[in-house]
Amino acid sequence: MNIVLLGAPGAGKGTQAGRIAEKYGLTHISTGDIFRANIKGGTEIGKLAKSYIDAGKLVPDEVTCEIVKGKLAEVSANYMLDGFPRNVFQAEELDKFAKIDLCLNLAVDDKLLMERICGRRMCACGESYHVSTLNGATTCKKCGKELYRREDDNPETVGARLDTYNKQTSPLIGFYEKQGKLATIDCGAMTPEQVFGCVEKVLDKYIK
Ligand code: AP5
Ligand code: MG
Repeated sequence: MNIVLLGAPGAGKGTQAGRIAEKYGLTHISTGDIFRANIKGGTEIGKLAKSYIDAGKLVPDEVTCEIVKGKLAEVSANYMLDGFPRNVFQAEELDKFAKIDLCLNLAVDDKLLMERICGRRMCACGESYHVSTLNGATTCKKCGKELYRREDDNPETVGARLDTYNKQTSPLIGFYEKQGKLATIDCGAMTPEQVFGCVEKVLDKYIK
């Protein structure tokens, strides 16, 4: 099964992807993580991506689509795409080289997103936390590494990311609905565990 995880910045895509990967054995492919690894490694892609990411804008489609196409040539089945596609052009391109079974849309109220992202702390192992549940801890509960804040997790960039999502990415809800592949989880104020309970209900049905 191949899934697209859709949701605004801070909706919980990364948080749920970790749980989904563990339970259902799907490979997690996050374009944001790929770009950040390239920035860290000082590659040409990283240099290009950084200016867009810092501004809360989308990295050009041709660069992003090529990266995903390359990844899917290695991982041909049972994957979940987190952060791709991010506009209708990318979704149409994806349909040319992949077969998507389901789009899992995590719907979260706009007001919660800013607070969630600005309070997020990341670990290099991929785990993410929120300051409100860390009780002052500064290291990862899973691997013990020091936590850090993503560079694009500041109020100004988050505002631009939310604007980009609303204008360019949210039309994908209608795109996948038309294809009959959309499952929306209304996350409201649910905890990550409660959201995962809803994710399980959807995925168990599909997997059977
Ligand atoms: P990307 O890395 O994909 O970032 P994003 O979409 O902005 O989403 P986030 O990673 O910020 O949020 P998330 O939904 O994963 O939430 P998380 O689980 O961490 O992209 C970054 C940039 O790369 C883009 O802006 C763009 O420039 C570029 N890019 C990437 N893909 C691209 C593409 N396809 N085309 C062009 N450019 C692209 O959770 C957030 C916080 O909330 C955490 O602290 C978490 O602990 C907490 N939390 C999670 N769930 C809950 C809950 N249920 N209740 C309370 N707290 C919760
Ligand atoms: Mg993420």
